[in-house]
This record gives sequence, structure tokens and C-alpha cells, in this order.
Amino acid sequence: MTDTQDRADIRRGCLVGAGFFARNHMQSWRDLGPEGVRIAGVCDLDGAKARAMAQEFGAEPFDDPLAMLDALRPDFVDIATTPPSHRALVELCAPRAGLVICQKPLAEDPEDARAMVAACDRAGARLVVHENFRWQRPFMRIQELLRSGTIGTPRFGRISYRHGFDVYAPQPYLLTFRRLAILDVGVHLFDLARLLMGEAVAITCETQRRNPRVAGEDAFTALTAHVGGGVCVTDSSFHTRLHPEPFPQTLATLEGDDGTLELREGFRLVIHDATGRREEDVEPAVPAWGEKPWHIVQDSVRNFERHALAVLRGEAEPQPSGADNLKTLALALAAYDSAEQGRRVFL
Ligand SMILES: NC(=O)c1ccc[n+]([C@@H]2O[C@H](COP(=O)([O-])OP(=O)(O)OC[C@H]3O[C@@H](n4cnc5c(N)ncnc54)[C@H](O)[C@@H]3O)[C@@H](O)[C@H]2O)c1
Repeated sequence: MTDTQDRADIRRGCLVGAGFFARNHMQSWRDLGPEGVRIAGVCDLDGAKARAMAQEFGAEPFDDPLAMLDALRPDFVDIATTPPSHRALVELCAPRAGLVICQKPLAEDPEDARAMVAACDRAGARLVVHENFRWQRPFMRIQELLRSGTIGTPRFGRISYRHGFDVYAPQPYLLTFRRLAILDVGVHLFDLARLLMGEAVAITCETQRRNPRVAGEDAFTALTAHVGGGVCVTDSSFHTRLHPEPFPQTLATLEGDDGTLELREGFRLVIHDATGRREEDVEPAVPAWGEKPWHIVQDSVRNFERHALAVLRGEAEPQPSGADNLKTLALALAAYDSAEQGRRVFL
């Protein structure tokens, strides 16, 4: 291939929202540069943030998303803002880019989320939700093992994310959210539960507010029933003291008819199957720009973005798509209904 052919093949993107988490997006896009992608523009309502990030990553800064889209006409837009802005931004981007990537949670309100999916459908744009837990290396390996039938059909699951790390230092806005743990982390865990156990049909949930500094629930315990009869316990706490601090590891157990998978602390995947017991190290490498303990998240952002690039090239279907993520959001909102009304909620 000549240089010119290489250049013609490069997918050009724009980033909206140059805040805390967007750094992981930008570092990962830069890592994927040799695979044919480049972020040409960075926009933030706070122009200083946009300029700083654009300068660091060799992009053009903007403080108005529409001006950026009109000026750069990107192949895709990567939205890394907080949820209240998601609907307006997706509706703005859908007619102006073939692929729209939106950070989780897609929305706080199901009507907004449905409008975003509809806007992309109308415009013929793909919508992929930045749901990176399923792209964490341990969960990619678990999906592979499930596909190969190692444990048979999963019948029982437990997905757990408990820690005492100060998530409020880098994300102070979380302190003010009336709906916290389920919308911030529960959506990740419910996405995994649906992916690994099959579609959820009912949920029962209890929430707790354990840290008096926060406005919303910072812990929840949910029980979901899945098509085919499987059940899954999903739990999270942001106020759990453990030594060593496990943040940001997700632990899981999946029991099937023919075996069990246990994702234990320290990225140890224990496989119990017909042949006996074996253990795999599923810890990802630390990206050159990354650091522990964030590497599990940083590596998953790059895995997710590699997937988004494959979607752009027409080589893969969005995982998860906006339409699929509507069901995860519905499950998260049903968890609140269950906790508030003290009853089992059917989806
Ligand atoms: N997937 C993950 O593992 C993960 C981890 C952390 C955060 N997140 C998600 O990332 C998103 C952003 O979180 P954050 O902590 O980086 O927030 P942040 O507040 O640090 O950054 C958001 C930025 O978006 C900008 N912004 C808001 N509305 C805008 C608009 N309409 N146009 C342009 N810029 C706008 C703000 O000025 C701010 O700089 C949230 O949805 C959060 O849930 C995901």
C-alpha cells in the first residue's frame, strides 16, 4: 500500500467533552493511529479544556460542537460528556457522522434514550454505546469460554463491584447525583449480566446510601431472572473497606451445567470443567500511557475503540448498539423502581 492509500483509509473522528475520562479515549485513539484512525477535533464548552487536550493530541480545538462538525465533517464522533448533554449531542451528530459513540449511561430517562436511537436510525448513522466493561480482558476471555461451551449454559451468575476508592475526587459531580451507583456502575454490571446470562426478564433490587457525603445510593444488590431460567446477583458498593483496595476490579462467578468460571481478585480466572480445575492470569498489560490500578479500564477503552473502528469499517456490529443499550437502561431504571416500591419488576 502507498502512503496515499494509507491516508485515504484513515477514519477521522471528533471528540466532544474533554474532561476526566476523555483522556483515556484520546490516549487510546492515539495508540490506534497505526490501525487507521485519527481524532481531528476536540470540543468542550470550556474552551480552555478543549485547547489543552487538542494541543496535546495534535487536534483542532472548538467550544461549539456544531462548528466543529461543520468545519471537520468527521466520519465519527466520540461523545465523552456527562449524561444530561447526551441526547442533544447525539441528535446533533446523527445527521453529520456515520458513527456516533456515546459514553454510558446513554441517558437518565428512557424517552431521551429512545429519541437518540431514533435520531440515529433516521439519519442512517450507527450508534454504539461506550460500554467498556464487556471489553475488559477478563470478560472478553469469559465470553470466549462461554462461546466454546466450557461450562455449558450459565444458570447462576454473580457480578460484583465493591470498593472504597475515592471516586469523588476525580468525578466530584457524582457526589450530587440523586441516582448514583446503579446509573454509574450498575449499567456496566447489567450490560454484563445480559451479555453473559441472556436477556433479563425480571429484577428485584435493594439500594443503600452508606456514605453520608453522597446524595444518592452508593450501594445496591440486585437479583435478575433471565430467559431460560438463569439467575444473577449483581452488587456494587462505593463504600467498602478492603485491603488491598480492589478498585476497579469486577469479580464474577458463572455456574453452568458443565462447569464454573470464577473471576477472582488479582485477575485470576479459575475454570472448573469436566477436565478438572485450571487457572489463567487475565490481567491486561499496562498501556505505555497508563498506570495501575486503572490499566484494566484503560486497556478496555482501547479494546472498545478498536471495536468501534471495526464497526466504522463495516466489519462488526455495534457492541452494544444503542438499541441494545435501551434494554440495559430499562433494567437499571427497573432496579430503582423495585427498590423504591419494594417489589419485583418485570421487564
Ligand atoms: N466507561 C467508563 O469506565 C467511565 C468511567 C468514568 C466516566 N465515564 C463516563 O464518562 C462521561 C464523562 O465523565 P467525566 O468524568 O469525564 O466528566 P467530566 O465532567 O470530567 O467531563 C465532561 C466534559 O464535558 C464537557 N461538556 C458538557 N457538555 C458539553 C457539551 N454540550 N458540549 C461540549 N462539551 C460539553 C464539560 O465541560 C466537561 O469538560 C460520563 O458519562 C461518565 O459516566 C465512563
